[in-house]
This record gives sequence, structure tokens and C-alpha cells, in this order.
Amino acid sequence: MPDRSPYSLPASMITPESVFKNRRQFLRQLGFLGAAAMIGGCDSRTTASAAPGGAASGFNLPPRPSDKFYPAKRNPIYQVADRPETPLKIAGNYNNYYEFSTDKEAVNPLSARLTIDPWTLEVGGLVAKPFKIGFEDLVAKFPLQERVYRMRCVEAWSMVVPWIGFPMRDFIDFCQPLGSARYVRFLSFMKPAEAQGQETNQFSWPYFEGLRLDEARHELSLFVTGIYGKPLPKQMGAPLRAVVPWKYGYKGAKGIVKIEFVEKQPPTFWNELAPDEYGFYSNVNPDRPHPRWSQATERDITNGDRIATLPYNGYASLVASMYKGDEF
Ligand code: MTE
Repeated sequence: MPDRSPYSLPASMITPESVFKNRRQFLRQLGFLGAAAMIGGCDSRTTASAAPGGAASGFNLPPRPSDKFYPAKRNPIYQVADRPETPLKIAGNYNNYYEFSTDKEAVNPLSARLTIDPWTLEVGGLVAKPFKIGFEDLVAKFPLQERVYRMRCVEAWSMVVPWIGFPMRDFIDFCQPLGSARYVRFLSFMKPAEAQGQETNQFSWPYFEGLRLDEARHELSLFVTGIYGKPLPKQMGAPLRAVVPWKYGYKGAKGIVKIEFVEKQPPTFWNELAPDEYGFYSNVNPDRPHPRWSQATERDITNGDRIATLPYNGYASLVASMYKGDEF
């Protein structure tokens, strides 16, 4: 039996389809407390357990021409010296991807149904010329590299994984955003026939996130297409996700299909649902407790160790100068 987080959705929050499709009405009905109960929770388990059977490998992928780009060369600048890497068996079976399920261990098997080939990325908004690019062309254009980053979820668990991808900055330069562009917005896929959560749970899909343009252009911000020397498995966001390691994990949208450059700070999925709990910036901050739990420590899912949370998830020397310090 999958182990449910104490914060997973109670039956009383399941709203009839006719109601949840009306976002405003749904949010009103839910009230602040209900919205607050949806993500998060320092779940009580000490270690994540791998799903049984073949799904445990996590590499439930179709063969694609871009497979030849893996493994990618490790960039030695981005290492995590003080913590062990989290084995894929753990990282790939403990996933937040509500399009499939709110149960972390159900995401891997359920995401197998998602078709990721072909996959098109659309670029729009304030750019010299809006365009579309197929995933295979994208990966052929931007050389891949491997970087080991810490990843800290707002729920106070964390891991260390070798991502493979390319700097967001390279892609942004290629898009030629106009001078008026100040933010970038990410939109995830909408495929309710393949992602059962989009059909059955009450969130307003698709998932959407955003960054300030200077954050997206920061050297640490990555578009990720692989992990552990191989193409990214579906449960971790294949074929394309964002990784912004000094922010809580939900800032990294998975299954991205659209990138838009905009002038005003864009709305984001969790901030819309519970603005007092999930800010636009969401920089990892051990001194700013979540309204329902402390952010001072985190549980490393590799071994269950409880460790101190670092400001900006350990990347303060690289990113703190972008902020006044009170961004939420
Ligand atoms: N992206 C989409 N499209 N849908 C999601 O539910 N969850 C976010 C983020 N990206 C999410 C998403 C959250 S809350 C976290 S912590 C990370 O993905 C989890 O990434 P992982 O499962 O690869 O560890």
C-alpha cells in the first residue's frame, strides 16, 4: 500500500467536476484553510521507499534520437561535497507531480501513460519573434552538461541529484526577449487523457510558474532534460523541466510546453491557491517558517537524516545579491 502523507487530500475536499472547473468558485468554496491543506506537510516517514517491480528504475521512456547525448559531461563547478547523492531508486519514486497523483509513490507508475514524443515547446510573449521548437531540435541545439544540485521541497524534505540540462540563460538569449520583458512564465502540459490527476483532482490545470528574468538568466538556472546520466524519466518532468536550486522545488515546473516573456509578475500555481503560504519568490529560507511548519531543518530522503536548512539552499553566495532579503 502506498504510504499517504498526512497532508494528502481528505475526501471532504474532493469537489464535483462542475464546481472545480470554475476556479474562482472553487477557491471561494475551499476557503483559505482548505487551500492551505493541499501541498506540503513534513511527512512522518523517515525514508522514502522504492515502488516495487520494474517501475523502480524510473526510466519508462521511448527511444529517441536525442538519447545519444547522454551521459553528458559533468560540470565540475557544480558539486555538492557535503552530502551523498540520492539514488534514483529513491528520487524517482518519491515525486510531486499532481497532474498524476498527490501520492508521491503513485506518480512513477501513473506517469508511464504520458506521451512525450513528439513534444513541442512554444515561445511567446515579449520576444522578437514567437516560435515553436520540437524537443529533439532543442536538445540538438543546446549542449548538455551534468550538474549536481541540492533540491529542497517546501514540504521540508530534500535530495541531491545529478541533473543534465542546459543553462536557461542560453535558451533565453536565443529567444531574444524584448527590453520590456521582466519575467518569464512557464506552462506545463495539459493532457487529461494521459494524466489522471488532471481529470480527477480539483486543481486548475495546467500548472504554471514564473521567474524574474534575472533569476531565469542566473548561472544556476537550468532547463533539465536528463538525470543520472540518462534522459529524464517521466515522473521527474520529462521531457523538459526547470530547476532553480535556491528556491523551493515547486518553482521548477515539469513537463513544460510553453515559455512566455511578460512585463508584469505572472501568477503562479501555488501562490494563486494559497498566497500566504507560497510566495512568488519562494527562496529557501530557514528563518521564515511556513505557516504550518518550520523550515529550519529538512529530511534528506537519501537516508532519513534531519539536517539544517541553509539560506538559499546553500547557494547564498551566488544568488543573495539579487534580493533585498525579504522577498517571499
Ligand atoms: N511541476 C508540475 N507540472 N506539477 C507539479 O505538481 N510539483 C512541484 C515541482 N514541479 C509539480 C511540478 C513540486 S511541489 C516539487 S517539490 C518538484 O516538482 C518535485 O520534483 P521531483 O518529483 O522530481 O522531486
